[in-house]
Amino acid sequence: MQVRKVVIPVAGWGTRSLPATKNIPKEMLPVYKKPGVQYIVEEAMYSGLTDVVFVNNQNKKIIEDHFDYNWALEDLLERTGKTTLLEEVRSVAEMVNIISVRQKKQLGLGHAVFCAREIIKNEPFAVMLGDDLMFGREPGIKQLMDVAMSENMSVVGVMEVESDKVSSYGIIQGEEFAPGIFRVRSLIEKPKPAQAPSRLAVVGRYVLMPEVFTHLEGTEPGHGGEIQITDALLAMARKNRLLAVKMRGMRFDVGDWTDYLTANIYFALQDETLRDELTRKLKGLLSCPS
Ligand code: G1P
Repeated sequence: MQVRKVVIPVAGWGTRSLPATKNIPKEMLPVYKKPGVQYIVEEAMYSGLTDVVFVNNQNKKIIEDHFDYNWALEDLLERTGKTTLLEEVRSVAEMVNIISVRQKKQLGLGHAVFCAREIIKNEPFAVMLGDDLMFGREPGIKQLMDVAMSENMSVVGVMEVESDKVSSYGIIQGEEFAPGIFRVRSLIEKPKPAQAPSRLAVVGRYVLMPEVFTHLEGTEPGHGGEIQITDALLAMARKNRLLAVKMRGMRFDVGDWTDYLTANIYFALQDETLRDELTRKLKGLLSCPS
């Protein structure tokens, strides 16, 4: 069976990015020229996913609007002959189908995914978290889709993190049975470094079999009093029903200011029209005593 749908939970408050996110959803903060969430949707589209399910709250409708037509703006760009911009703006509305589901209470990531149950029904599906931007030769989520389909099992994406960072992630324990592919035996949400079974952290990419909903249904609030996807995944790992794939490529956690700013510079440096001047200015900043 093919994976067609991706759930993108976007109802969170983005407290790590305050005060910037007081009224602007964190997913709409620009990373160079595009809002961060557009990179996520592009990764989904390049992976062959066609239906994006935003799990949203009542205050962040602007996210869905970004992936819709803006007739007034397009009309203006057309009349003034700004065809390149017109095509760029219009193409965003044509990337994928957008489906929106409400998360009426913020009860955790597991709860957010559960809110999409009626849309997903009985198909395997992807989950992508907006804080993690991934770039490389192969789109991030595609790397998991290939393994999930060939093994017919749920898969989480992992990357190695420094030991002082394990307490920010779900950490897996598993055995590598093929290069970069692990059978997950256990996983723990945000452990203290001394309790972490490894440094392999779940990085916001999942391909899940619909059986996850049965586990989520019975999941009690866990770490931080929230309904954690990690706890439902642990139940699947215990039944030998969970794999992890070590992801290839670069990752930016755009909820972290250092990573957010680095991502902006990284993308700006890819733009030939900016590269030389930006490099000169950055060098100037670095050599100037603060
Ligand atoms: C969530 C998950 C965690 C995962 C992380 C990846 O945590 O609960 O297991 O490692 O995303 O970004 P959050 O960052 O939402 O607190």
